[in-house]
Amino acid sequence: MDSLRICGGRRLNGKFNVQGSKNAVLPILAAAYLQDGCCIIENCPRIADVFTAAEILEELGAKTSLKENTMIVDTTGASGCEISDRVMGKMRSSVMFLGAILNRMGCAKISRPGGCDLGPRPVDIHVRSLEKLGVRISAQQGYLYCKAEEYLPSVLTLIFPSVGATENVMLYCAKQKGETLIINAAREPEIVDLQNFLNQMGADIRGAGSDVIRIRGVEKLHGCTYAVMPDRIAAATYALSCTACGGDILMENAESGHMRIVLSVLEDMGAEVLADEGLRIKMNHRPKAVEMIKTLPYPGFPTDVQPILTACLTCAEGTTVISETMFENRYKYAEELIRMGADVTIDGRSAVVRGRNKLQGAAVQATDLRGGAALVLAGLCADGESTVQHIGYIDRGYEAIEKVLASLGGNIQRRT
Ligand code: UD1
Repeated sequence: MDSLRICGGRRLNGKFNVQGSKNAVLPILAAAYLQDGCCIIENCPRIADVFTAAEILEELGAKTSLKENTMIVDTTGASGCEISDRVMGKMRSSVMFLGAILNRMGCAKISRPGGCDLGPRPVDIHVRSLEKLGVRISAQQGYLYCKAEEYLPSVLTLIFPSVGATENVMLYCAKQKGETLIINAAREPEIVDLQNFLNQMGADIRGAGSDVIRIRGVEKLHGCTYAVMPDRIAAATYALSCTACGGDILMENAESGHMRIVLSVLEDMGAEVLADEGLRIKMNHRPKAVEMIKTLPYPGFPTDVQPILTACLTCAEGTTVISETMFENRYKYAEELIRMGADVTIDGRSAVVRGRNKLQGAAVQATDLRGGAALVLAGLCADGESTVQHIGYIDRGYEAIEKVLASLGGNIQRRT
């Protein structure tokens, strides 16, 4: 299996375009199944989760092709309604295809998503919402069998602003007769991107980005060309890498408006943040710790950035307390940081990070996608050589992370 070899200690300098957003493109690929024809999706990141989403579309009978960063999805005549266990096992968020499959085919069968590397990830909010809209769902022998009966336009109040459940409801309702309101909807920028894509296909959806989304179903959707938004989590990863290592980087296409809370934390850590055109980060000294970070739904501090921030804080001046409120098992990577000399204490959902002057290079293993990125950052600012193994996790969400970092002057190579 591939690994990354990193020699730490170099500053990062240079400019680049950040990849398209993983969390935006996945529901967009699911949405392509709502129409019978071709969608051209530009700025599509070449990452393993996108390859998995393409496999799902192929299983459903669509044709996909990815050239450079343009994905073409041709769903003409596709009529699949099942996602295989093999593919569900690769990517838990495959559950977001449910709303689209049900809408197109009237029935769906998927294996019930179980636990994952971040702890249990239930789908009760997805199930309850779809049931309220008239879908009959039964769980048998590890599978969810779903049948769309008469559509019941509803006012749905989500008990938690789940990103995936909000997207599934949008996908299910986009092409139905009647109006549905989602109250306490997730407000993430990726939901706005999904709304924009669906509207480009002819849907009538308003309100994404706020906590109330109104979906007026339309009779038909058509193919379109759409460019996916830049990835705010990848941008935060590179911004924090520069903050930890020092340097001056410019992400020309980054959307700083999607990253306000992360950028304000970077400023508190002493980085200079310039967000007029794209996003520029300058850092010339050791980062300062911040007192307290709590992960929350957008616009709060993103749980996906928590591991990467923790890695940066291991070499900061001072102590930070982190509280992870979104996923219960999101500190597995901390053990690997400790192997590199970090001073991190985990107590349930809290972590106390006491900054040290330098980490020491070591052989470490990625345990999940963002935890893996955290280890890459640690390797970049540690003394000596590190090897990060199990980088299949990192490849799920980062397009050629080693090439981006090497282009900025990082000493990092992939070993196959
Ligand atoms: C999405 C993102 C993921 C990010 C997360 C939170 C994608 C592909 N993934 O995941 O990167 O970390 O948002 O910002 O966009 N929950 C329930 N019942 C449900 C659904 C969710 O209890 O039916 C809980 C989850 O266990 C979790 C929390 O709600 O604790 C957040 O989940 P959700 O917002 O649904 O995240 P995902 O859509 O899975």
